[in-house]
Amino acid sequence: MLRGKLFYIFNAILGWELYLGRWAKQLSQEVGVSAHFICSDIYNLPDVLDKKFDIIFTSYGVLAWLPDLKKWAEVIHHFLKDGGVFYIAEIHPLTTILSKDFKITEPYFTKEPFIEESGPDYADNTVIIESKAYMWTHTLSDIINVLLGEGLKIEFLHEFPFTVYEQFPGFMEEDEKGIYRFKDKNIQIPLLFSLKAFK
Ligand SMILES: C[S@@+](CC[C@H](N)C(=O)[O-])C[C@H]1O[C@@H](n2cnc3c(N)ncnc32)[C@H](O)[C@@H]1O
Repeated sequence: MLRGKLFYIFNAILGWELYLGRWAKQLSQEVGVSAHFICSDIYNLPDVLDKKFDIIFTSYGVLAWLPDLKKWAEVIHHFLKDGGVFYIAEIHPLTTILSKDFKITEPYFTKEPFIEESGPDYADNTVIIESKAYMWTHTLSDIINVLLGEGLKIEFLHEFPFTVYEQFPGFMEEDEKGIYRFKDKNIQIPLLFSLKAFK
């Protein structure tokens, strides 16, 4: 998985990332993908990047880091060419109300961040992160409405009962493709969503 958010421009790729740009650049060289990475806060990107894009793609674990969703949608709109495509595949916000042991512990409708004091890293649960993380829950309707608010035309919104990491350790099983589902087939809640929109 490439961390951060990526802009794809036909056969060229541009990504941006708050911290991991250097790592992403090294990885792109190792796998032979021509790509350019910028280390920047997404909110500052219009100040450091003067380009428009045919496709903006963003994946898994992006929105919860962002306090201001409207500003995020403005950045998407700013960088998309007329007729360009925006695609997002993301952790379903409903899941942020659940603790790792699958109990409802957080509100869905809140503008306040929830604070993770420390805990296992999502990419490697043997690594314990010893710093606070501030995360925001943006409801599905908020996500749709900020994009509509920028005049983007939504082609589809899909929801999925599987995900890309072990979000609820002990409750999930991984298939041969690295996809996680609940062991208990009676648990049918949305874990991911995808959305495609045009400018
Ligand atoms: C959960 S990871 C994303 C994983 C990646 N999208 C994937 O599919 O593997 C979230 C990333 O967003 C970056 N990030 C958080 N806030 C950001 C911001 N304001 N601007 C740019 N990148 C940010 C973090 O450094 C982190 O690497």
